[in-house]
Amino acid sequence: MITHKPPMGWNTWNTFAANIDEELILDSADKLIAAGLKDAGYEYVVVDDCWALRERGKDGKLVPDPKKFPHGMRYVADKLHEKGLKFGMYSCCGTMTCARFPASFNREFLDAQTFAEWGVDFLKYDYCFKPAGAVGAELYRRMGLALASSGRDILFSGCSWGADKTPEWIGTTGANMWRSTGDIFDCWESVKSLIRQQYDILPFGGRDCFNDMDMLIVGMHGKGNVGVKGCTPDEYKLHFAAWCLFGSPLMIGCDIRNMDEETKAILTNPVLLGIDQDPRCNRPYILKCEGNEDLPAVVRTLANGDIAVGLFNLSDAHADPYVCLDDIGVPSAQGKTVEGTEAYTGQTIRAVNAILSASLPAHSCAVYRLKITDL
Ligand code: GLA
Repeated sequence: MITHKPPMGWNTWNTFAANIDEELILDSADKLIAAGLKDAGYEYVVVDDCWALRERGKDGKLVPDPKKFPHGMRYVADKLHEKGLKFGMYSCCGTMTCARFPASFNREFLDAQTFAEWGVDFLKYDYCFKPAGAVGAELYRRMGLALASSGRDILFSGCSWGADKTPEWIGTTGANMWRSTGDIFDCWESVKSLIRQQYDILPFGGRDCFNDMDMLIVGMHGKGNVGVKGCTPDEYKLHFAAWCLFGSPLMIGCDIRNMDEETKAILTNPVLLGIDQDPRCNRPYILKCEGNEDLPAVVRTLANGDIAVGLFNLSDAHADPYVCLDDIGVPSAQGKTVEGTEAYTGQTIRAVNAILSASLPAHSCAVYRLKITDL
């Protein structure tokens, strides 16, 4: 499968882990549509780990747990397709999934065929229990080929956490997206750490294989499987803005059946989604304000010549970060400046003195979509 934009959807893991079943999946799908998330672009409904029985069937195939999925997976796929959504599932390149269910090592072609028969559109592929001596790149290439030759368009979502120098080989496997980091948790420290880990891997994102910063924690408020202590409203906003500026896939991880209005507003922010889904998929770059690692400006040029600039304050104190327009390709010497709007407040701004700045409380950000204009 070819995908031209970072995939968007909802995944069961962050909130529900093993507590999943058909009713939850289909109910969440309905809520996703009713809340306007489908219209905003969220289209994949992904069942993560813990969907199968502990043993394969006599025919060697993976078997959905009949208590959780009494009508099987084809039924779930058909229902999601009827709703205009796409269906994602989960396996792993090792002998077991991370939660110790059967995985696809040495069964890649059989499993890809099974997923194709079930009407699956997306496969998240994990990296646990790789047998000693097995090479991750080779295992991922096998599944990449198995999916590509399955007769069905199935998006290949790699999940090797950046391990074993993933960026060096993931592009050879047919994966459409790759998890660049370890698992996210619903707390500020996790968000900050995942952002900081992006600084050295920016050249490996983009259209060929999107850099997946992991599923979103927006709106979890400390509840569920990876719920820790939750984040403040500013921290959730910063988290979502960063994922969009970096062009990450956007997989919602909260319980969308009980989502509050603020969460919905963040997840459907049109300016940020426009940046994440920009058709040109240019890579972002980072300018550290006065060399400060905690004050990164994340910048991306967009298809129509606009510039997205996120000023981030990852520090624990108030800060006033800025970027010089000359450093983002806007030379005042040629009579140019920028104007535009801030994504969350809608506030319009026009840069003065060739500087774009913001006054930011700790753990907050300002994201601007800017047009170049004459001074
Ligand atoms: C790993 C992945 C997570 C999730 C779990 C499931 O930890 O990184 O995203 O899929 O496995 O067991």
